[in-house]
Formats: sequence, C-alpha cells, structure tokens
Amino acid sequence: MHFHIMTLFPEMVLDGLRTSIIGRAEDKGYISIEAVNIRDYTLDRHKKVDDYTYGGGAGMLMQAQPVYDCWRALEENIAGRRAASQGGQKTRVIYVTPQGEVFSQKKALELSMEEDLIFLCGHYEGIDERVLEEIVTDYISIGDYVLTGGELPAMVMVDAISRLVPGVLNNGESAYTESHADGLLEYPQYSRPEVWHDKKVPDVLLSGHHANIEKWRLERSLERTKERRPEMYEAYVAAHPPRPSKK
Ligand code: ADE
Repeated sequence: MHFHIMTLFPEMVLDGLRTSIIGRAEDKGYISIEAVNIRDYTLDRHKKVDDYTYGGGAGMLMQAQPVYDCWRALEENIAGRRAASQGGQKTRVIYVTPQGEVFSQKKALELSMEEDLIFLCGHYEGIDERVLEEIVTDYISIGDYVLTGGELPAMVMVDAISRLVPGVLNNGESAYTESHADGLLEYPQYSRPEVWHDKKVPDVLLSGHHANIEKWRLERSLERTKERRPEMYEAYVAAHPPRPSKK
C-alpha cells in the first residue's frame, strides 16, 4: 500500500509517521509513505501558494495551480508504476476537511484495500474550489471540530489504515478483535500481577475455560458499549436480534 501526501509541511507528516509500528511497517516494505511539498510546484516567483479570497472574508486560500500541478506529477508517477504491473485506474484523492464524511473503522477498512491513496492537506482558509472539483474523489473529516491544517487528520487516517494492511501488526488477529471491529467496544484486559492495589484479576480469566472466557468478554463488551456509546450499542442490538428459543 502506497500513501502519497500532498502538503505544505512534509517534514511534519514524515516525522510523525516514521516512528513506532508505522515506521517499522515502512522499513519492512508493507507500506510506503511519501510526502510531497505543494510549494515545489508553484509558478510564482516568490514561491507563494496562497492569495486573498474573492468576495472578501478573513484569511487566505490555497491557489488552484500549485495543487493541480502537484497532483498531476504524483498521478503520472503512480500511473507509470502501475502500467508496469497491472495498469490503469485513477488513484483516489482524499481531501481532509471538516466538511467531509466522518472517518470510521469501516472507512479505514475500505481504504486499506486500495493500492495507492493520495491525501490532500489544506491550510489557511482552505483550497480554491475549482481544483477540488477536478481532482478530489473523497471528502473526509476526522470529527466535528476544526484543526489548523490537514496534516494531523491525514496522519490519523494513514495510521488507522496502515494497521489494517496485512503484515503491519505482528499479531494479525488483534485488528479484528479490538474496539469498533465488530461494532462493539473491546472488553477490559489485564496482565500480571494477579493482584494490584487490592484489585484482583477476574477469576474467569484465570480459569482456562475458553467458552466461559469468551462469554464473559462479550458481556463486558456489551456492558461497556451500552454505558459509553449508547448509540453504538443500539445499532449492535438491532443488527444482532436474540435468536428465538427452541421449543
Ligand atoms: N482540517 C481541519 N479540521 C479538520 C478535521 N476535523 N478533519 C479533517 N480535516 C480537517
């Protein structure tokens, strides 16, 4: 899986992502991350990439030309590499914006099936609408609040998507049992020692009885989801009606 991030702050993105699990995944070749500086594509003599908005209003807007030329260069590179393997489709371009669909585990899973993904990070008051109309395929937000730029949201999404790419997590199973994978929050977990601050690990977890452990975990997941995320709990219950009991 290849991530391509269009940004005015490539070092911020790379410094943040090239550590820990995601950095190791890149070293091992499961994913690649490239950050391209949009400013390198401006035709302005002073390397400017922003200007005032027509109609007035606060702040500056990123201009269409550098964004478009940066995208064209990226797309050509990707197309060149793909032609050598299986050829053709266009790469999805995600504009990270508070005006997008809210990101979720389901969306992360869908995007993890792509071979390449381009993220476009805005700054200032946003980006000229005309270039967005031409290149963007997906508008995605990471939540209902506003950040100063798209870099952190892009990093959040790259992290969530990468860990679903086969090989990235050491224990392949954990991506499928964790919170949100099945519409429930994960159950509580414990490690050694058996007693800490007078709190004892629940007996069932020491019993070695796998069916009872599974049952206990599902009950705790349901309980926790109902308490912390009632809307998620309702959706889960609606999708998993109790089986009619046999006569
Ligand atoms: N850019 C600024 N705020 C954002 C958000 N909440 N999600 C995605 N991109 C953003």
